[in-house]
Amino acid sequence: MPNTLSPKEEIKRAADIVQVIGQYVQLKKAGKNFMGLCPFHAEKSPSFTVSPDRQMFHCFGCKKGGDVFDFWMAYHGVPFPEALKDLADRYNIPIKEAFSSGEEKERGRIRETLFKINEIAAQYFQEALGQSGGNPAVDYLKKRALSQEIISEFRLGYAPDAWDGLTNFLKSRRIDSQMAAQAGLIIPKKGGGYYDRFRGRVMFPIFNLKGQVIGFGGRVLNDALPKYLNTPETLLFHKGEFPYGLHASYKAIRERGVTVIVEGYMDLLALRKHGLQEVVATLGTALTHDHIRKIKGYAGEAIVVFDSDEAGRVAALRSLPLFLNEGLSARAVVLPHGHDPDSFVNKNGLPPFLALLEKGAPLFDFFLDQKLTGGGNSIEGKVTVLKEILPILAQLQNRAQRSLYAGRLSERIGIKEDVILSELKAAAAGLSEGGLQKNLRERGAAFEAKQRIGDVQLLNLLVHHPMAVTGLVETDCWKLLSDATTSRIIEKMFENYRKEGRFSLERLEESLENEEVRIRFREALVAESIYSDQEVKQAVREIEEKVCQTRLTNSIKAAGGDPKALNRVLLELKERDARSH
Ligand code: CTP
Ligand code: MN
Repeated sequence: MPNTLSPKEEIKRAADIVQVIGQYVQLKKAGKNFMGLCPFHAEKSPSFTVSPDRQMFHCFGCKKGGDVFDFWMAYHGVPFPEALKDLADRYNIPIKEAFSSGEEKERGRIRETLFKINEIAAQYFQEALGQSGGNPAVDYLKKRALSQEIISEFRLGYAPDAWDGLTNFLKSRRIDSQMAAQAGLIIPKKGGGYYDRFRGRVMFPIFNLKGQVIGFGGRVLNDALPKYLNTPETLLFHKGEFPYGLHASYKAIRERGVTVIVEGYMDLLALRKHGLQEVVATLGTALTHDHIRKIKGYAGEAIVVFDSDEAGRVAALRSLPLFLNEGLSARAVVLPHGHDPDSFVNKNGLPPFLALLEKGAPLFDFFLDQKLTGGGNSIEGKVTVLKEILPILAQLQNRAQRSLYAGRLSERIGIKEDVILSELKAAAAGLSEGGLQKNLRERGAAFEAKQRIGDVQLLNLLVHHPMAVTGLVETDCWKLLSDATTSRIIEKMFENYRKEGRFSLERLEESLENEEVRIRFREALVAESIYSDQEVKQAVREIEEKVCQTRLTNSIKAAGGDPKALNRVLLELKERDARSH
């Protein structure tokens, strides 16, 4: 039998969406679907739904949704052709040139080229490190106590101290210099030509989740500045978007249920060398929402290890609202004075480091301690601290936790607990004004849903029982619906059915013209079926009945007092009765 499936369809069959998404998001079975925390927006309770039956996902919170390709594109931030290629590679499905718009194709081609250039550069740096004969980078890495295994696994390399090492190498490989410049590896000279961005540095390739090189960090071998030089923003590399090392750590993170977050390349590599696998690095930037959203797909807890310096302290304080917002529970560990994880673990070994992790205080306690210590003991100081802490406290969902912290705050700051509690109430009220409005809005929506009940039921019926479409396609029952969005979906559904003589939900989604309509459609798709198979016939009959009645009412109205017209209506009614008995 000839293979008539398109690559897209073939991949969709092979790539189970639950399996694909489950690699990146912790999913729990809930009825016929799976639920998890949405990787696309901040949320504390799961509204991200994956339907194995429909092979689609939908988030009831942020309304993102679609098929396995839509997920891949959104999660990895890649255009469609790349998603197609990634999944095709993964499931061993041969594809030819991807179909897409000219512009998309062009962007896809550029990205592919940049990946290729990065890969060539990574190999060049690796080889340069491998070259024997007084290579200063080899000595340097020895001094930093990195093992050969770690050096190979993370593909460390060396950018020789020359202006044109990589530039010439890329030329010899017939790489377009303009593209290499776009990859951030070489820089155009004023008078024409190019020179190497990275010179005399140990090179750390930075990987995406798929293990592809998206950029580089380069460290000097001495105390020169800047200590680290990074790939600038490119089509592939965006600072603060992706935690370093996650491609190598995510399995361990999932197994252990916790992510250790450190700052630097060296910290991560040293910890891994000593056997701690569940670790990622932020690479010097403050933690971002993007970091946390990626991380929380694998583990329910984070332990953030901060340097003992001022910058580390500030970073710790800044990260609290972020963690609270994303609903990822976090603890903070501050290393003994003068240490970072790299120096600590190399000096003391892993067990003392693990002991520190064990003792890490909840980030909130840490925050409180730091603020109170830093805030001074003057009345003004205390009031400032209180003002800063209350809104954050008020965000805590758990009341027991809230009053616990209020108690601690009272103790530390010397303000009576009931005063703090009433201040907290005021702060919480300020916050939940938004909450109250949301609640009212939701109740309003529920009320509307009831009013629309015919719409919801009808769409549910048609989506879950395609047989009903056959029964109703000759009626224009969609015209009866009060909700224009649902009405449009059903109209399209019938239109497609009439055109093709059969019914495909997938085609239907593609033909829906705007996002609002598609969202409603996805929500119907992932919803549980309201009707059992036995009830379908009855439901179809009731809807037909309603359609007829409405038409009749309308005809009578239209007939006005005209006896001829009324007669026609009566005849029609008779005919209908004859048909249905
Ligand atoms: N960093 C950077 N640019 C700098 C300094 C730091 O991008 N000028 C980033 C690097 O990713 C670095 C991380 O911030 O790994 C942490 O900085 P720091 O603690 O100063 O570096 P270490 O990793 O401790 O570097 P090393 O141990 O090699 O001195
Ligand atoms: Mn260090």
